[in-house]
Amino acid sequence: MQLLLAVAAVLSLALLPSPTAAHNITRILEKDPDFSTFNHYLTVTQLAPEINRRETITVCAVDNAAMSDLLSKHLSLGAIKNVLSLHVLLDYFDAKKLHQITDGTALAATMFQATGSATGSAGFVNITDLKGGKVGFSPQDNGGDISATFVKSIDAIPYNISVIQISSILPSPEAEAPAPGPSQINITALISENNASEDDSKKKQISNICHAASMNVEGKEVDPSHLVNAPAHNEDHMMSWKDVVVRMMEKQN
Ligand SMILES: *[C@@H]1O[C@H](CO)[C@@H](O)[C@H](O)[C@H]1NC(C)=O
Ligand SMILES: *[C@@H]1O[C@H](CO)[C@@H](O)[C@H](O)[C@H]1NC(C)=O
Ligand SMILES: *[C@@H]1O[C@H](CO)[C@@H](O)[C@H](O)[C@H]1NC(C)=O
Ligand SMILES: *[C@@H]1O[C@H](CO)[C@@H](O)[C@H](O)[C@H]1NC(C)=O
Ligand SMILES: *[C@@H]1O[C@H](CO)[C@@H](O)[C@H](O)[C@H]1NC(C)=O
Repeated sequence: MQLLLAVAAVLSLALLPSPTAAHNITRILEKDPDFSTFNHYLTVTQLAPEINRRETITVCAVDNAAMSDLLSKHLSLGAIKNVLSLHVLLDYFDAKKLHQITDGTALAATMFQATGSATGSAGFVNITDLKGGKVGFSPQDNGGDISATFVKSIDAIPYNISVIQISSILPSPEAEAPAPGPSQINITALISENNASEDDSKKKQISNICHAASMNVEGKEVDPSHLVNAPAHNEDHMMSWKDVVVRMMEKQN
């Protein structure tokens, strides 16, 4: 019982989304069907809850035409996630702030950089005030070419989230490189591995962990076999179910 409580405590800390999300990117974007593809991919890549958890961010959305350019490259879902996470700037830039950038240029860290998947300067976006009131966006690893320009503001909740439209997807060879999908573990395989083990106390531990884990998937009780593709994440990085199990085993030993 004590173990189960400990497991539940660790899991709820690590896995439960913050109950008081101040904004909902899905709801903001669903007002305009031009952004339905971008919105859909924020959901399937599980970036939406990560965006909702953060404050002081800017989401650079693109319309369906720009998304179909990206999708025509047939990238893996993991690579699409990296590309889209490059479109989430970890600072608040609304239309006014974009047009008042000090010295005409600013370097913004992105969620791609924050996830640790990016190396070197990949994961930073250079914002430049151009002549005629235009604002250009370019990944820093793109050789200084302006890749996209500011189109319009979609929504702004100062200073929590600004959602803007930019003209096209920001190209980044590093973000587009093959990447694993959202962190996952096959709980069914884990349980059968565990079933085969001789160690009764470890067996019990793992089945308790799997039970607790299954209770924590979006608050619904599900069969552990349904967790095969369930991702788990904490505040800043994806954490697999296996990481949770490993962490629990370390705590017990
Ligand atoms: C911004 O986020 C904070 C923390 O989640 C929240 O308390 C505040 O109400 C939000 N501001 C607006 C204008 O929604
Ligand atoms: C965000 O909005 C979408 C669409 O309206 C809804 O399905 C989803 O449950 C909301 N998410 C949260 C965390 O409230
Ligand atoms: C940002 O881009 C502008 C225009 O290409 C360039 O002049 C500037 O040096 C770049 N800034 C950084 C920090 O990379
Ligand atoms: C999960 O593991 C079980 C048992 O090893 C296997 O039969 C099943 O195909 C696996 N599922 C996936 C999606 O890998
Ligand atoms: C593990 O063992 C339990 C009880 O012995 C059994 O009910 C369950 O089906 C087994 N699960 C797998 C995936 O082998």
